[in-house]
Amino acid sequence: MSHPSSHPRRIGVFDSGFGGLTVLEAMLRQLPAAEFLYLGDTARLPYGAKSRETVARYAVSSAEFLLAQGAEYLVIACNTASALALDAIRAAVPVPVLGVVETGANAAQTHSRSGDVMVIATAATVESHAYLAACRERKLRAIEKACPLLVPLVEEGWIDHPVTREVLNIYFSELLDQARVAALEPDTLLLGCTHYPLLRRQIENALPRSIRVIDSAEVTAAQVAASVRVPGGGATPPAPHFFATDSPEKFRRLGSRFLGQPIHHVELIDLESSTPG
Ligand code: DGL
Repeated sequence: MSHPSSHPRRIGVFDSGFGGLTVLEAMLRQLPAAEFLYLGDTARLPYGAKSRETVARYAVSSAEFLLAQGAEYLVIACNTASALALDAIRAAVPVPVLGVVETGANAAQTHSRSGDVMVIATAATVESHAYLAACRERKLRAIEKACPLLVPLVEEGWIDHPVTREVLNIYFSELLDQARVAALEPDTLLLGCTHYPLLRRQIENALPRSIRVIDSAEVTAAQVAASVRVPGGGATPPAPHFFATDSPEKFRRLGSRFLGQPIHHVELIDLESSTPG
């Protein structure tokens, strides 16, 4: 990651939509003195089925917006943007930028005893093989699987739903077959998408007990908390400021579920007019 030397008061958190609120929820608990700005690029969601060029263009404009709002440290809470656009974002902004692929891979390295890891994510993240590369750098063997049905199921609120349970069973039976063919003995599953922590219990129930599920929301918050020193000062920081590029009402409604607490105000912004072609 970029040098964690900063003492940021304002931390910008970016996701394609609502899913990154699972990361913000964990950071609010672990960094109580920080002030958070959260941007959900809901007008251009989903990122998970788009090309690297498009995701990079969207993610860079979002990062620049957060910087213009005074963010001194950026957390790219979107796995797809972290996988496809982290270098482009780091090249575009002069503040430290942390992505969730590296934090997830660090956690897998800490927890896996067998050294064999499975990753589930969006199609774009899997096609980028960013997790595979991050795992290899850490001497882990990994297999990846795209689970494109899970984002819409979560957005529909079908968390504890028979259809979701069946979809998970099918995905995991294919994933475990993939592991057998590759002669891996996985003991860890990395949730490589912001939406999946909401299905954590259902995912754990669909897997053998020997497999530990790692949620990048918690580990990202822990790594931010460990790498920055937020200046204190006694006063309680202001509540997070939420920005969305589409439908503040939908953001409030769905976002409250991801954040686990009510969201009262969301500011609508337009990134398109400042983003070329
Ligand atoms: N935020 C995306 C991710 O973590 C999931 C939603 C999308 O496809 O935009 O990969």
